[in-house]
Amino acid sequence: MKKLLLIPMIIVIIITCVNVFQTSSKEVKSKIPTVIAHRGASGYEPEHTIPAYDLAKKMKADYIEIDLDITKDGHLVAFHDGSVDRMTNGSGYVKNMTLAQLKKLKIDTSSKYRNLKILTFDEVVKHFGKSVNYYIETRELGHKLVMEEKMLKILRKHHIIGKGARKGQVIIESFSSKSLKKVHKLAPEIPLVQLVMIKDKKTKVTNKQINEWARFADGVGINSQRVTKDLVNRVQKKKMFIYVFFIKNEEKETQRMIKLKVNGVFSNYPDKIREKSLLKG
Ligand code: G3P
Repeated sequence: MKKLLLIPMIIVIIITCVNVFQTSSKEVKSKIPTVIAHRGASGYEPEHTIPAYDLAKKMKADYIEIDLDITKDGHLVAFHDGSVDRMTNGSGYVKNMTLAQLKKLKIDTSSKYRNLKILTFDEVVKHFGKSVNYYIETRELGHKLVMEEKMLKILRKHHIIGKGARKGQVIIESFSSKSLKKVHKLAPEIPLVQLVMIKDKKTKVTNKQINEWARFADGVGINSQRVTKDLVNRVQKKKMFIYVFFIKNEEKETQRMIKLKVNGVFSNYPDKIREKSLLKG
């Protein structure tokens, strides 16, 4: 009789343990925001280079972020600053240089890498194909929209968008609503994120702004200092995502953003997010 009771009891205990484990791992998982490797894993490798993107992929970042700039002769390149001074051994503005001139410049002349060059957007997409997800930032050039068609053409050429493409493989972000609206018109299937940078402590994102962005965008990307629980709630209530970038104190701020349950973070250290998300509280 005792033995007969023992077997069902053991089964119940096993099922309970499995359920508890599954629930807690689900809870932990749900705390992990989408990880966008900011300019690649740029905390470890020179930004916007194959080593930086490769490392981001190895670290299982959900997206690699690519800033677009455009050369004098109309080639899109993966580059953040308008000027090449900070990142290369050259001087001047990308928009005033041809691709051939840019390709002569070296990024990081240290002994680790002797031959790192500025990459065209086409080279990046050709290299990674469908093996990564892309989070791409467009900009205006002197108030003109010159990047959108070229970018979409390259994405189509490599089958990242268009027939057979996976939704979400590409997200386009921009501080320019004009640029996002143009992308929306040309390729309405691509999710868009309106970037906003608010330096002034007293300035708040208004519901009117959120409503306006919701007409064409799927998300808002904002600097962490201005992110509060109230803002997260108001954006998510509008069925939009909130992505956060960091101007300073990335480590401390990341922890705060995870607690606020933002949808994603741009990180120079994509490997750290999962560790932080797994921390309690
Ligand atoms: O890309 C999102 C955010 O990082 C925007 O800032 O200066 O890196 O393009 P920035």
